[in-house]
Amino acid sequence: MQPDAAIILQIRGLHAFYGESHALHGIDLQVHEGELVTLLGRNGAGKSTTLKCIMGAIPRRLGSIRLRDREVVAAPSDRIARLGAAWCPEHRGIFSSLTVEENLLLPPVIARGGLSVEEIYTLFPNLAERRRSQGTRLSGGEQQMLAIGRILRTGARLLLLDEPTEGLAPVIVQKIGDAIRQLKTRGYTILLVEQNFRFAAGIADRHYVMEDGLVVDHVLAADIGTATDRLHEYLAV
Ligand SMILES: Nc1ncnc2c1ncn2[C@@H]1O[C@H](COP(=O)(O)OP(=O)(O)OP(=O)(O)O)[C@@H](O)[C@H]1O
Ligand SMILES: [Mg+2]
Repeated sequence: MQPDAAIILQIRGLHAFYGESHALHGIDLQVHEGELVTLLGRNGAGKSTTLKCIMGAIPRRLGSIRLRDREVVAAPSDRIARLGAAWCPEHRGIFSSLTVEENLLLPPVIARGGLSVEEIYTLFPNLAERRRSQGTRLSGGEQQMLAIGRILRTGARLLLLDEPTEGLAPVIVQKIGDAIRQLKTRGYTILLVEQNFRFAAGIADRHYVMEDGLVVDHVLAADIGTATDRLHEYLAV
C-alpha cells in the first residue's frame, strides 16, 4: 500500500439487525486502496454480516458505510455494485446448471478494467480445463475459484471475500492464496473474512478481530509475531 493511499471503505458505528436480533453493535473499520485486510473471528462473530452490510444485503443497518466519498449505508445493492464493490459469499453461489464459462460471463460488467475470461483462466488454470463443465460437476476448490473469478470480470475494485479457503485441501488453499496475492499486486483492494489464521497471516497487511458483533482488536502484519497468542485465544473454539 502507498503511504498516502486513499480510504476506499470506511465503516463507522455500524449496527445490523436480523429482525429483532441485533448482530452488529457499532463496528468501526477502514480499508485503504490496494490493501488486503482480514476480518478474523469465531463462528457467529459477525464477519459475514459485515460483508453483507457493505453490499446492502441486510435490510436493517444503521451507522455509516462510505465507499470512497459516497455514503452507502442506506443504498440498494445494485448501486453499491456500481460503485465498484463485489462480494464472493460464503455459499459461493455458483449456478449449477451453467458451465464454468457461462458462470463467468453472467455478472454484468460495471466498469472498465475488469479481467477478461482468458485472464481469469490464467489466474486459475484449473478453471480453464473445466470451462465446459457444469457447475454441479466442480469440486469445492473449483467452485471457489469460479466464485472469485466471476467477480473479476465486472471491473469491481473492492473485493469482499468470505472464507475462500473453508473446507478446502491445503494444496487448493495454496492456489487460492497465490491468486489473492496476484490480485493484490494488480492493485485490487481486498477485505477477506477468514478463520484460517495461518492463511490470513501469510497474505494480509492488517487484521481486524471481531467478537460478538464488535471489532475488538486490530493487528498489523508487522506485529503478528507478538500478537500470535492473543489471536489464537480470540480464534480458539
Ligand atoms: N439470516 C440470519 N438470521 C438471523 N440471525 C442471523 C442470520 N445470519 C446470521 N445471524 C446471526 O448473526 C450473528 C453473526 O453471524 P455471521 O454470519 O455474521 O457470523 P460469522 O462471523 O460470519 O460466522 P461464521 O464464521 O460462522 O461464518 C450470529 O449470531 C448469527 O447467528
Ligand atoms: Mg460467516
